[in-house]
Amino acid sequence: MPVVTEIEDLHRIFRRRVPRMFYDYCESGSWTEQTFRENISDFDRIRLRQRVAVDMENRNLGTTIIGQDVSMPVALAPVGLTGMQNADGEIKAARAAHRFGVPFTLSTMSICSIEDVAAETGQPFWFQLYVMRDQDFLARLIERAKKANCSALVLTLDLQILGQRHRDLKNGLSAPPKLTWSAMMNLSTKWGWGLEMLRTRRRSFGNIVGHAKGVENPASLMSWIGEQFDPQLDWNKVHRIKEMWGGKLVLKGILDAEDARMAAEVGADAIVVSNHGGRQLDGALSSIRALPQIVREVGDRVEVHMDGGVRSGQDVLKALAMGAKGAWIGRAWVYGLGAMGERGVTTALEIIRKELDTTMALCGRKDVRTLDRNILLVPRDFEGDWA
Ligand SMILES: Cc1cc2nc3c(=O)[nH]c(=O)nc-3n(C[C@H](O)[C@H](O)[C@H](O)COP(=O)(O)O)c2cc1C
Repeated sequence: MPVVTEIEDLHRIFRRRVPRMFYDYCESGSWTEQTFRENISDFDRIRLRQRVAVDMENRNLGTTIIGQDVSMPVALAPVGLTGMQNADGEIKAARAAHRFGVPFTLSTMSICSIEDVAAETGQPFWFQLYVMRDQDFLARLIERAKKANCSALVLTLDLQILGQRHRDLKNGLSAPPKLTWSAMMNLSTKWGWGLEMLRTRRRSFGNIVGHAKGVENPASLMSWIGEQFDPQLDWNKVHRIKEMWGGKLVLKGILDAEDARMAAEVGADAIVVSNHGGRQLDGALSSIRALPQIVREVGDRVEVHMDGGVRSGQDVLKALAMGAKGAWIGRAWVYGLGAMGERGVTTALEIIRKELDTTMALCGRKDVRTLDRNILLVPRDFEGDWA
């Protein structure tokens, strides 16, 4: 096994180990992938102020996010289909996150069900909800999350319809995979992945199959999913879901200051500045660029978090210094999972913690709770002069 010292090492192993269809699903953005790329490259435009002769002993990365103690202000973002990147992937990731002391968010589109993750980990986790047209299914999903003791509901607002992702369309992505000739050729080279998948019974969407009316097999499942994202989702529905849930609510997928204001008015506990990892509206601003204006707009009323393009502890530090209370990682943990299962997720978190800690020290700060814009050098045109 190669020596792993950075997230990119996990990415390389992930790429070799996982079937092409699932690698592409993770690594793609929508249309031209401009926003997907800028989520990453805009972090590189921000520089750090090197400070010296500052006492750096006894540093602290621990804090609280939405009232929960965390070992560092990082959360695992919801990612669909992770049980296809590695057998029982959501259970493994939830365990790794819990041991590390950071929140894990289970996607509606997970392979392991809410009940499976709850039973196998015995720990509270966050549940991400997509609003579906089937009201009965939606209500039961919320009830299931309550019963499983989920400690926050993460309501995703930026996927009322699916952004067009060329790679998935070309690959005919499905779970379990459709066995076309080229998919079979590719699968036949992925022995490690295949053997583990054969040992688990969890190979389709665990929150949906057996729970939604008319979904009995992969074919009916794929057409159900295609029709179910609710295009009529509006702020009234968000409010209704808040009432139905009754617990901590995080609104994910906010990229505009006006929407941030609406989210604060609805009474969310936190918002996540996000463009879904560049998978929805291509051409939208990168998350790190959109963040400062949203912090200025609502930062005193609601916790503002961000995700998109975070691949290192330095990125986490920049997001926090720009005003985020937490930085969520998506692909970074999936690379770890696909590469090495639970150990890979732990490794990804360790890498990020080490980088965050070292960078913070070299910027002359000892406590993650004190990070602010003073440690950054931000180009004057960073937020853009858009009309
Ligand atoms: C493969 C993949 C699947 C995703 N599935 C979901 C999902 O089911 N629900 C959701 O709210 N966000 C989903 N997202 C978006 C992530 O929660 C997060 O916003 C994004 O990955 C952050 O960008 P990053 O991957 O650059 O860290 C997905 C992202 C990826 C890469």
